[in-house]
Amino acid sequence: MRPYELPSLSLVVLVGVSGAGKSTFAARHFKPTEVLSSDRFRGLVADDESDQAASADAFEAMRQLAAIRLRRGLLTVIDATNVRSEDRKDWLNLAKAHDVLPVAVVLDVPVALAVARNAARPDRDFGAGVVQRHHAALKRGVRGLRDEGFRYVYTLGGVKRIDEAVFERRRPWTDRSDQEGPFDIIGDVHGCGEELRALLDELGWVVSFDGVRHSARHPEGRTLVFLGDLVDRGPEVSEVLHLVMDLVAEGSAMCVPGNHEIKLLRWLRGKNPSPTHGLAASIASLSARDEGFRDRVASFIDGLVSHYVLDRGRLVVAHAGMTEAYAGRASGRVRQFALFGETTGEIDEYGLPVRADWAASYRGRAAVVYGHTPTPTAEWVNGTLCVDTGCVFGGSLTALRWPEREIVSVPAARVYVEPVRPLAPLSPPQQAGDPPPDVSELITRVRLETRFAGAVALEGPSMATAIEVMSRFAAHPKHVLYLPPTMAPVETSSRPGLLEHPDEAFAYYRKHGVPTVVCEEKHMGSRAVVWVTRSPEASERLGIPPGGVILTRRGRRFFPNQALEAQLLDRVRAGADRAATWDELATDWLLLDAELMPWSVKAQDLLVAQYAPVGAAATARLGAAAAAMARAAERASDPLAIELAASLSGRLS
Ligand code: UTP
Ligand code: MG
Repeated sequence: MRPYELPSLSLVVLVGVSGAGKSTFAARHFKPTEVLSSDRFRGLVADDESDQAASADAFEAMRQLAAIRLRRGLLTVIDATNVRSEDRKDWLNLAKAHDVLPVAVVLDVPVALAVARNAARPDRDFGAGVVQRHHAALKRGVRGLRDEGFRYVYTLGGVKRIDEAVFERRRPWTDRSDQEGPFDIIGDVHGCGEELRALLDELGWVVSFDGVRHSARHPEGRTLVFLGDLVDRGPEVSEVLHLVMDLVAEGSAMCVPGNHEIKLLRWLRGKNPSPTHGLAASIASLSARDEGFRDRVASFIDGLVSHYVLDRGRLVVAHAGMTEAYAGRASGRVRQFALFGETTGEIDEYGLPVRADWAASYRGRAAVVYGHTPTPTAEWVNGTLCVDTGCVFGGSLTALRWPEREIVSVPAARVYVEPVRPLAPLSPPQQAGDPPPDVSELITRVRLETRFAGAVALEGPSMATAIEVMSRFAAHPKHVLYLPPTMAPVETSSRPGLLEHPDEAFAYYRKHGVPTVVCEEKHMGSRAVVWVTRSPEASERLGIPPGGVILTRRGRRFFPNQALEAQLLDRVRAGADRAATWDELATDWLLLDAELMPWSVKAQDLLVAQYAPVGAAATARLGAAAAAMARAAERASDPLAIELAASLSGRLS
């Protein structure tokens, strides 16, 4: 007997009258943890498995547990009678909500047998009437299970077929996590054959053609991944298809479908899609080929799997993108997402759908590499990378080498098609108008795996407190590119009246295995992280204020006085100009981990607020400090220092 195919991630709904043998069957074919039985849940919520009055609570608990298991990607079996379509509807909805395939397994035994079995069970004291009613309901609905939405329906009629049944679990088509690469992942080709050949060459591929078939080999044993939209718009649609189909057939390449392939498939099947968005180019190219070639293209496109999970789950590839919740799942909407991404439902000024920014909220652990949206350069956004750099629009054809994460591009030979909408960076990584962080993401319990301290659990309530503080005082999180490390202080001195003493400090470091301690004169300064840009354009790109930003070591704005901050940034910029640092480092921004010397505003605050009350002597010393500062400032004829010194002595008086 042929085994029944079972998707390894599915919701299996057993259907059968009481006494049909569902629980017995479930125990034989599934792990105990995979089976959720209504009896068991009645027991859990009521201490009595036969308490029918507890059914509603039992099913609620069961649904919740099933939902958690499906979210976590675990096959789940529903062991309940499920003879009425209303009962099944709930489970179908649950499967749909989690994008897993619903499977119905019907155990159909003669009523008399079920009644006889139940008569022998101490926990089934109902009469034959109940089983008969179940059976009648079952008969009514069993033919319509596919229409109800079950993707696999196995109806096992009679004890013999039930006894002989064997399941074979099949991993999802999308699961290629056992393929670890290395991969060369190529963005939207759109018939740009010349650039594709150049890119393959650049990547080190050796491609041959024997007059019939292409073959490709990479000395490092790499695998190509095409992200769809091979066709339309460009000059060599058939040539590109020919090459990619051959490489997929021989196993040197994988390919996911793009929305343009799906539309082309409709044309290949004799439908009449409008020849817009470059379809005309494909029609012209394919019309010049024989029917056998077109048939081959049709079955190639038809066989493409929406997306792939690769490299032990570390990499996901799809044409238009993939969310964490959808990766590796199967449903209509997962396929839609893979082909079209997410749109807001609005239409922009060019008449094109507005794309929703799924990548901006992506928090998945897998890297998602996709195409679909032409952008000037490939840039990572939250672990996602769009490698469609608009070759057919005169941009470039881009590949990502995985796991190296190296981006390789070749320029387009020319502009084949003018873009309807100008190429714009995809969600610029930093944007002044960015939505603030989502607090719900921050106040849920988080477990961080750290290199030195193992797992650290951050609890919701303490996170909430931290966020309260940060939201009041911290700089915009996007301005906090770097938080400087600070030196661990030594233990407080045991000597009376002293905070630290060298003897104890050296002993402390020695005890902690520090062989060398470098001693430097202590500055009465403050740590400052100076993020300065060469131009306002660079600031805009980075999403920071025009000149840059200066933060404290805790990620707060250093200067409440923005004019002062701007002056200092101007000076740092002028310094970098003079030293030609921008060109030397080929950068338009610098981040300096610096110490601002005594005339820092913060030091003033510290001096005034903390030291000044100590007494007149200290104030006198402060006065001297202010005077020294003023002298230094005058010597350097530095207006900023003069102003700071003036401000300090002003506060002291
Ligand atoms: P089950 O307890 O497996 O039936 O078998 P079920 O479908 O889950 O019933 P409900 O819906 O929970 O009430 C019922 C009785 O039939 C026997 C079992 O040992 C149990 O006592 N049985 C089951 C067999 O004797 N042979 C079988 O192949 C299956
Ligand atoms: Mg049972």
